[in-house]
This record gives sequence, structure tokens and C-alpha cells, in this order.
Amino acid sequence: MENLIVAIDGPAGSGKSTIAKLIAKKYNFTYIDTGAMYRMITLYLLQEKIDFENLKEIENVLNNHINLDMKENKFFLNNKDVSQEIREPIISENVSKVASIKIVRDNLVSLQRKIASNKNVILDGRDIGTVVFPNAQVKIFLIASVEERANRRYKEFLEKNISISYEEVLKSLKERDFIDSTRKESPLVKAKDAIELDTTNLNLQEVVDFISSKIDV
Ligand code: CDP
Repeated sequence: MENLIVAIDGPAGSGKSTIAKLIAKKYNFTYIDTGAMYRMITLYLLQEKIDFENLKEIENVLNNHINLDMKENKFFLNNKDVSQEIREPIISENVSKVASIKIVRDNLVSLQRKIASNKNVILDGRDIGTVVFPNAQVKIFLIASVEERANRRYKEFLEKNISISYEEVLKSLKERDFIDSTRKESPLVKAKDAIELDTTNLNLQEVVDFISSKIDV
């Protein structure tokens, strides 16, 4: 039987990862958080003080010095658990710049395709339905108002005791939205055949039910 691919795209804070995890659990699919991969590369480049314009060095790093691994919703960069670190505001502020670098995208897209091969998977990101898996059987594009998205992200930071103001979160989200949707390489756009769902006024169960109704297993 053909493996099933569910692609969830959308801007930051639209609920992609929470929803994708719930759907993965419900159907026993493998969940692939592609944003976490871009975040891990960003963490490495910042730690090693590698200039985002130094493409030669970035290529060297991607080919020879970075090993990414994901197990049970934990993320490992060169065997170190960086699940917490990659959610820090400093990573969020820089990740969109790193994600606009073509060699980074090429490298991660091929890793995503490799991890997803021969499995039923749900992936979330920005380019899953357009570039990574244009033939995915289910494509969902989640949106929500920027204020609601900032609100959700702000609450997550508070829960993790990360000190940041709502205004800072809102500003950072807007910047990221702008870079992600205007970049040359695989910008954040809705695939023509994706189903758009506005989650501003929906609770998690309502979103899960909607997506479940599109999954035919
Ligand atoms: O969870 P949140 O929506 O904040 O972001 P994320 O999914 O962790 O993604 C972080 C960043 O990685 C995004 O703002 C994009 O710049 C980039 N990204 C991407 O370009 N393509 C993907 N498939 C996933 C993430």
C-alpha cells in the first residue's frame, strides 16, 4: 500500500506542531517537525559564530560537522539534546535568515524526504505541500491572526519561564512572517491544492477533527 503523507504548512504560531503531534498520535503516524531542523542548524551556526553569508563554511558544516537526529519528540544536534535551546527567542530571531539559504534548504529537504520514505508521515513546515512533498495526499494550510499567534507564542514562553514581552513576540513573528513569505527559495505560500483553515477561533479538538475528516485511512 502507498504510504500516506500529510503536509501541514502555515506561519509561526498557527498551531502546526501541536496539531501535527495530536494527529500523529491518533493515527500512529511518524511526525516530522521540519522547523526544528532549521532551528538546529541555526543553533550550530550561532554557537560556532559562523557568518550566515559564509556559504563555503556553511556547506562544509552541513556536509561534515552536523548530525541531526530526532527521537520521541526530542531533538539531538551532534548527539546532544537541544530540544529546549532551539525554542529560545535568539533562535527564533535568526532562524528565518538561515532558512533562506539555498544550500541549507537543499540539505534539509533531502533529509526530510529520506526520513519520510516508506512510512505514513505528518510533516509540518513552510514548504511541505509546495516543495518537499508536492504529491502529498493531504495538504493543510493553517492560518490565524497575527495577534492570536503572538498570544499563543507568548503563553508558551511564559510557561517555559522565558522572559520576553508580548510586543517583542509580536514583532519577532511579524519579521519572521515577512522573511518567510518573501524569500526567493521556497517561500511560505499555500499550495494550490491545499485546504486553508483559519484557527483563530478554533480549539485544538476542532482543528484535529477537521484535519481527521480529510484523512482517509
Ligand atoms: O514553530 P514555529 O512556527 O515558530 O516555527 P518552526 O516551524 O519551528 O520554523 C522555524 C523557522 O524555520 C520558520 O520561521 C522558517 O523560517 C523556517 N522553516 C522553513 O523555512 N521551512 C520549513 N519547512 C520549516 C521551517
